[in-house]
Amino acid sequence: MSKPKILLTRRWPAEVQSYLASRYDVTLNDRDVLPGPEELRAALRSHDAVCPTVTDRLTADILQAGAGKVRIIGNYGVGVSHIDVDACKRLGIVVTNTPDVLTEPTAEIALTLMLMVARGAGAGEREIRSKTWAGWGPMRNLGALVTGRTLGLIGFGRIGQATARMAHHGLGMRVSYFSRRRAAAEVEAQTGASQCASLDELLATSDFISLHCPGGAANRHLIDARRLQQMKKTAFLINTARGEVVDEEALAQALRNGTIAGAGLDVYEQEPRVAAELLTLENVVLLPHLGSATLETRVAMGMRVAKNLDSFFSGEAPPDRVA
Ligand code: DGY
Repeated sequence: MSKPKILLTRRWPAEVQSYLASRYDVTLNDRDVLPGPEELRAALRSHDAVCPTVTDRLTADILQAGAGKVRIIGNYGVGVSHIDVDACKRLGIVVTNTPDVLTEPTAEIALTLMLMVARGAGAGEREIRSKTWAGWGPMRNLGALVTGRTLGLIGFGRIGQATARMAHHGLGMRVSYFSRRRAAAEVEAQTGASQCASLDELLATSDFISLHCPGGAANRHLIDARRLQQMKKTAFLINTARGEVVDEEALAQALRNGTIAGAGLDVYEQEPRVAAELLTLENVVLLPHLGSATLETRVAMGMRVAKNLDSFFSGEAPPDRVA
């Protein structure tokens, strides 16, 4: 029997590519050139499995090209808002993702952003690199203490919980979360987090707001000009979730006007483009989507995709099926 044909849209860690090549007829992208819509259509028409990343937009129109051929989309990443999951359901295409393996790495980046923006680490580093640092002074480079402050989480899934655990046990923060469902009592006890009755209350009472909800149409611009106004003037907004959750233009305005004290961003509305105004502001820390960026994490993500494909092609239920 011929091996299933699978395609990776980007270059993956060598050991995962070798594992997949030993079991499947694999189309690799060793030059790591971003596929355009036409290449994605062609991939869906000619492979049993396509394995995209957050950089590939699989719209209903593009997915239609694979109708009757592609059987599974093995996403390399946990977020799937770049894939029209409803269209996949209609077309009978299975979708899987890679939860768990990037939980702690992403929570670390949320903490990094909190510390960097509150303590002025980004602006301070820019001073040194631009040779404008005039040296230590009692009233220079003053930031805000993070220890003991209140952290408000929007979304309380795996990554939100890991962020709560690190912030509470590492920095003694008080943690509240807003989520439709209340977490189990043991999760609340382990993370030191308690549920907040409303988003309005969370925004008004937190020193840091960190986003851990899914992206996609449902949460597009959840944080807009009105919600930024509800935050404390001294508060910071942290986004390691998805760019579209924040109205970037409204955020730039809020940062410029002092509506909030600062922001730390790892994700953007139009990656890799970053709103020009954000680049000019000192009170925002900008990272290049680093959430899962360690080699061991990227290997684990690849092996998680492989596990889903192995199960699917041997007739078992893939463990991380989202559609
Ligand atoms: C994820 O896994 O969702 C990361 O943001 C990379 O896509």
